Amino acid sequence: MTSLTITTPDDWHLHFRDGDFLKETVPATSRCFRRAIVMPNLVPPVANASMAMEYKKRILSASPEGSDFEPLMTLYLTNDTTPQDIVDAKREGVIAVKLYPAGATTNSDAAVSDLSHLEPVFEAIAQEGLLLLVHGEVTDNEIDIFDREKMFIDRHLQDIVENFPELKVVFEHITTKDAVEFVLASSANVAATITPQHLLLNRNDLLVGGVQPHNYCLPVLKRNIHQLALQDAVVSGSPKFFLGTDSAPHEKHRKESACGCAGCYSAWSAIELYAQIFEQLDVLDKLEGFASHFGADFYGLERNTDTITLIKQEWQVPDEIILPNGNPIVPFFAGKTLNWKLES
Ligand code: NCD
Ligand code: ZN
Repeated sequence: MTSLTITTPDDWHLHFRDGDFLKETVPATSRCFRRAIVMPNLVPPVANASMAMEYKKRILSASPEGSDFEPLMTLYLTNDTTPQDIVDAKREGVIAVKLYPAGATTNSDAAVSDLSHLEPVFEAIAQEGLLLLVHGEVTDNEIDIFDREKMFIDRHLQDIVENFPELKVVFEHITTKDAVEFVLASSANVAATITPQHLLLNRNDLLVGGVQPHNYCLPVLKRNIHQLALQDAVVSGSPKFFLGTDSAPHEKHRKESACGCAGCYSAWSAIELYAQIFEQLDVLDKLEGFASHFGADFYGLERNTDTITLIKQEWQVPDEIILPNGNPIVPFFAGKTLNWKLES
C-alpha cells in the first residue's frame, strides 16, 4: 500500500496552551484534525463557561485562514464547581468536563482533592448530557507512580461508573492492561483515549541508556506488557478505544531540566505516528475507525465527511521547532524517521 485515505480524524485529547503558544499549536493540530477536545489546564484553569468561550475565541483567532477547525471546549472541575456551573457550561456549548485529581499532572494544583463532594456535580454532568473526562491517577505519595492508574480504578473510577451509570466517561490516555480490561468490562458509556507515545513506547524508552526527558509524560510510560495490552486494544477494533494525542507542549529548557515537565508535543506528527504503529501491528485498515469514527460516535457528534490522505514516504521529525516567543521546543520523536506523511 502506498497511500491511505481516511475520513478526516479528530483529536479527543489535546493541550493547546494559551497566548503566543496558540500560533504554534493551533496550526499544528488543524493540519490534520478537524476537531479537538481542548484540555482546560491553563493557569488559572478554565473553570467556567465564560472562560471556556473566551479561550475558544483565542484559539479560533490563531487558526489558519480558511481552516474549518473546530475546538471542542471543556471545563476544569475544581472543589468549587457547582451543578449550576455545569448547566451554564452546557448552555454555552461546552461539551465535556475534565476531572484531574489534585497534583496529578501539569497545572493540576487547583484540581479536586475529595471526589465525594462532587456527586451533585457528576449528576448534573450526566443530566446535561456532557461527558466526564478523567485523568485516572491517584496522587498519594505512598503509591508508586507505576501503580497510580490501577489504584485510581480500584479506589475511584469503579465507584463513579457504578454510581452514575448514565454518565458518559472517557478514561483519558490509558496506559495499563488494567485500564484496558476495566474499559472492556464496563458498559457502553465508558471509553478511553490512547496516545501515540503509549502505543509506541514503554518505560525502557524513558530510562534505558539515560533519562529521556522528551519521552516523559503523565501517566508515565509503563512496562511492555502494558504497552502490548494497549496495542491489543487498538488491534481489536473495539469502538471503546479512540485517538487522543495528549499533545502537550513544553519549551525545551523546561523538559531538559533538573525537574523536567511532563508532556510530549506530538501534534506535528500525530496522525503519522499512529499510522506508524498501526502499520507495525499490521492493522492499517483499523486506523480510520480509531482516528475518525469511534470518538465522534462516543461523543454523539457527526462523523466528519471530508478525508485526508497519507502517503507512504519516509520523513524525519525535526529536532526542534522554534516557538513564536523565539524559544525552541523538541517535538516528540525528534530526529526519528516516520514512514507515512500527510499529503499536503
Ligand atoms: C499534560 C500537560 O502538560 O498539560 N502533561 C502530560 O504529561 N500529559 C497534562 C496531562 O494530560 O496530564
Ligand atoms: Zn493531557
